[in-house]
Amino acid sequence: MICRRTLLKTGASLAALPLLPGRLHAEVALTPVIEARVAQAQIAPEGYPQTEVWSFDGKLPGPEIRARQGSRLTRKLVNALTAPTSVHWHGIRIDNAMDGVPGVTQQAVQPGQTFLYDFDLPDAGTYWYHSHNQSYEQVARGLHGPLIVEERDAPDVDRDVTLMLDDFRLDPETGQIAGFDNMHDFSHGGRIGNITLTNGTFNKNLQTRQNERLRLRLINVATARIFTLNVQGLDGWIMALDGMPLEAPRPLNEPMLLAPAQRIDLIVDISAEEGDAAHLVRMERDEAFSQVLIEVRGVSASRPRGTPDPLPPNPDMVVTRLDDALQSHLRMDGGAMRGFASARMAGQEVSFREAAENGQFWAFNGMVGMPEAPLLVAERGQTVRVTLQNDTMFPHAMHLHGHHFREIHADGTLGPLRDTLLMFGDERREIAFVASNPGDWVFHCHMLAHAASGMMTRIKVLA
Ligand code: C2O
Ligand code: CU
Repeated sequence: MICRRTLLKTGASLAALPLLPGRLHAEVALTPVIEARVAQAQIAPEGYPQTEVWSFDGKLPGPEIRARQGSRLTRKLVNALTAPTSVHWHGIRIDNAMDGVPGVTQQAVQPGQTFLYDFDLPDAGTYWYHSHNQSYEQVARGLHGPLIVEERDAPDVDRDVTLMLDDFRLDPETGQIAGFDNMHDFSHGGRIGNITLTNGTFNKNLQTRQNERLRLRLINVATARIFTLNVQGLDGWIMALDGMPLEAPRPLNEPMLLAPAQRIDLIVDISAEEGDAAHLVRMERDEAFSQVLIEVRGVSASRPRGTPDPLPPNPDMVVTRLDDALQSHLRMDGGAMRGFASARMAGQEVSFREAAENGQFWAFNGMVGMPEAPLLVAERGQTVRVTLQNDTMFPHAMHLHGHHFREIHADGTLGPLRDTLLMFGDERREIAFVASNPGDWVFHCHMLAHAASGMMTRIKVLA
């Protein structure tokens, strides 16, 4: 901690000096690095072998990056892998050039090469970063980590805990990650793991005291699994979704769905008695599993504090002028059981079978994979409405880069700000957002095998 502060201070004073050759060298050396590299992790229970993962800084998940709202984040990505990679800063209203999407905002960073990410953090909240190159494989191998942007006025909690929920598919014999060419995953629900993890371990536990107040930042970094979560032994409130504060905390009284890439910030008060346990519970087909065991040892001085105040809102997040909005439509089709009659793929008309032979199974508006033309082109500041029609049998987690949107409910009311929308089969939903951030922004399914097999488009916001 002290070490980091010293570095920052030194960096600032150097920046103010004229760039003499010697000093320039010193300044470059101070740029914080994030290195993508192979590492070993004990994912499977004790007694099983370690698993080779792809990591940021040798850690699974990658190091927690914490920064203040309004500050600038600088990281030099060093690619020490044997494959090209990149970093996408998920949920940040970022400068387009820093969005980390190879082929759209930058070139993939080749092995041995570096890329300097340097951008402002306009919003507080819970975000994450992950590879955006071959991401169905690279994220599943471990290239992800939390990015926490702290409020200027942080809520009064005893502890602030990030919980990255994940799953891995390990070969039961070798304990290694295997099977990325499974066409069943691409055409069905994506790659679902056979071991469920929190912060890289299957038996995550926390030690607390009765009446302690915790902020829990839940992040689903799995590439396909939708977590259904509940709590036990604590009173809680949902404070924020996908980083963005709710206007009023929502008491936790029913299970929460957390789709891939989504986040939920909770504030919880431990109500379980000393010596007892509380849990973050994962529901699977009506069975309950302890995802995080929260041991209660001792009693905190604090008393239950009742409903917390809402988190401070982030700046300029309004949706206005719904009436003269730019209107767009996205129809999703394909996948197992339904397929599509025909679609365009790489400039050619193909049947579902022809697409499938190329490992492609899904289409947006009849286009497989990234289309030549954007889904829509918006003026900067224009309000955009997109109806999303899921004509497939599968759920999808639609993520828009660079912006947060609100759902327009059937009754005309607006939902909370989100960057990832979970849609079930045959659902039709509508979202609206202000196209405030210039650039080309990808819009894709965050079930990453789906994105890799057709579910990818982009929008353009004019400067
Ligand atoms: Cu979290 Cu396009 O990604
Ligand atoms: Cu999908």
